[in-house]
Amino acid sequence: MISKFQNLIDLNDYPVSWWDELIELGKKIKKNPEEYAHKCDGKIMGTLFYEPSTRTQMSFQTAMLRLGGRVIGFDNPETSSVAKGENLKDTTKIVSSYADIMVMRNPLEGSAKAAALTADCPIINAGDGKHLHPTQTLTDLLTLSEKKGRLGGLTVGVCGDLINGRTVHSLLKALSCYPDNTFVLISTKELRLPSYIKSILKATNSKYIEVESLEEAMPMLDVLYMTRIQKERFASEIEYLSQKDIYILDNRKLSLAKKDLIVLHPLPRVDEIAVEVDDDPRALYFEQAKNGVFIRMALVLTMIGNTNPQVLLKGKTHAGVCCKNPKCITNHEQYLPKNFIGNGDTLECEYCDERLLRE
Ligand code: CP
Repeated sequence: MISKFQNLIDLNDYPVSWWDELIELGKKIKKNPEEYAHKCDGKIMGTLFYEPSTRTQMSFQTAMLRLGGRVIGFDNPETSSVAKGENLKDTTKIVSSYADIMVMRNPLEGSAKAAALTADCPIINAGDGKHLHPTQTLTDLLTLSEKKGRLGGLTVGVCGDLINGRTVHSLLKALSCYPDNTFVLISTKELRLPSYIKSILKATNSKYIEVESLEEAMPMLDVLYMTRIQKERFASEIEYLSQKDIYILDNRKLSLAKKDLIVLHPLPRVDEIAVEVDDDPRALYFEQAKNGVFIRMALVLTMIGNTNPQVLLKGKTHAGVCCKNPKCITNHEQYLPKNFIGNGDTLECEYCDERLLRE
């Protein structure tokens, strides 16, 4: 199925050269934002946040306002007709007929792609469940490029909730496309990176190791990407409590690191970075969040009004086959074609990337 617009569902739908151009535009905007103050005069952004957000929602809104445009939308579906039972298709179809560009966060994996199938304006994925968060990755790449001067040849540690962390999934997928990066995956056994992301690292010949000790990893890292243990993604409070507070970055651990380490975090943080770390010049997470506005201004400028068609579904349906991921959008919105990409003996859901063995 083909969308009438170019959407941003997954960064890897685009070539690295496209990301690099966005990053360069984001840097130019950061240097001289006034130059772009009227580029979106008369345009409207719709922001549909079915899940809580501070940075993503407000940085998109700020980006549009700084470009001269205006914003409509909701930050709580309970105040919209979603509370009356309206499905994703109808809500996004309607808002996309009011807006010139739409930004959506939703707890279901594959929801942005599902919405893009029928929307009447481009859609930007602002986080779909534990799947992907491409605009956080653009923010991360801009910050890395500014601070390190390169996006390859880095040893990058990602620490915490690697199984549920959509920011980590998108970041690793992106950085694996740059040469000579090494990834240190720091987590407990329970929260290890999903196998489909490891398969992507293998397919790009990226080096990676899995470790449980943050202290052991610290001395080898150029970048440490801390993440929150995401309470909302656990099946029970007991499971969450068993993982909480295992990884806490403090000044003692930071003393083991290189002098030019940079510490990133998509935020919000809970306890995984002690507040004392904020005063260390290597702590760049607040600047990272600020960069979110400039890269999102670049993204909006690039996508708004872009009517080049985008192929969204390339695979096919298989009689009686459903995605086994209970949080996949196809298990909640029954009208969606349940499309899979064939891959030897496995099928891969085209919405959430979950793999299942062929019967
Ligand atoms: N990084 C991020 O997505 O933050 P919010 O959840 O506050 O948008």
